[in-house]
Amino acid sequence: MIKYYLQFLYHSKNEHSLHSPFVFELYTKIIQSKTKFPVFEQIENLRKKLLKNSSIIEITDFGAGSRIYKTNQREIRQIAKNAEKNPKFGNLLFRLIQHFKPSTIFDLGTSLGITTIYESKAYQDSKITTFEGCPATANIAQQNFDELNCKNIEIVVGNIDDTLPQELAKIKQLDFAFFDANHRYEPTVRYFELCLEKATEDSVFVFDDIHWSDEMHEAWQYIRNHKDLMISIDLFYVGLVFFRKNQPKQGFVLRF
Ligand SMILES: C[S@@+](CC[C@H](N)C(=O)[O-])C[C@H]1O[C@@H](n2cnc3c(N)ncnc32)[C@H](O)[C@@H]1O
Repeated sequence: MIKYYLQFLYHSKNEHSLHSPFVFELYTKIIQSKTKFPVFEQIENLRKKLLKNSSIIEITDFGAGSRIYKTNQREIRQIAKNAEKNPKFGNLLFRLIQHFKPSTIFDLGTSLGITTIYESKAYQDSKITTFEGCPATANIAQQNFDELNCKNIEIVVGNIDDTLPQELAKIKQLDFAFFDANHRYEPTVRYFELCLEKATEDSVFVFDDIHWSDEMHEAWQYIRNHKDLMISIDLFYVGLVFFRKNQPKQGFVLRF
């Protein structure tokens, strides 16, 4: 990651480099916005509670595994500390969803559900399907959704390899997707291509940890160069892609 971060620092730019009106608006008004919403405090209070929870659950891992832990026994507070995206990215997803108002959202990799709750509260008319392979983790996530009264989330438990094609078959179009599950090249590209079949010109896909490993870096290169998408924005920890047909194909590397 250090190597990729140094490359990012060298290549990344700010709003003064932006000639695309769509990306300029998005970057200055949505991505860089510092606006806090009252619900953020509620979500962060839930995170604080999870960070103090020392109950142990048995993890079922279908993904790239943990770089930190060697056993499958995990305290909830350890998951809250290491797996959940931090508030800055929860806030970013909230702003993106509030701005684009997607009707159908797929959230790949629920974990304890903190980021899913940000998505849910951003636009309560959306229907969110969130995917988690570990039944014990999904159980805690469901409790968190209930505690914060999130009525627009359905959690699908099982390996995304199986559940994603099943859930895609049920929808007409996919307006927004957050990919934060199996951090390896092959599944990331495969999930992207499956979701692509239901993408429209206005869909927005967000990829997490795009430079977490060589494999994820390669997956991001594949995705951002894909013929079907027009705009990619690399914010280092996350990458955003857009399919807008009336735009010239462009890739941006922007500080966040
Ligand atoms: C990094 S965590 C997600 C964090 C969450 N998006 C957040 O920010 O709050 C990744 C989650 O994806 C799940 N996962 C990884 N690979 C999976 C697969 N193939 N099928 C189902 N779930 C998977 C893991 O069990 C883990 O809970």
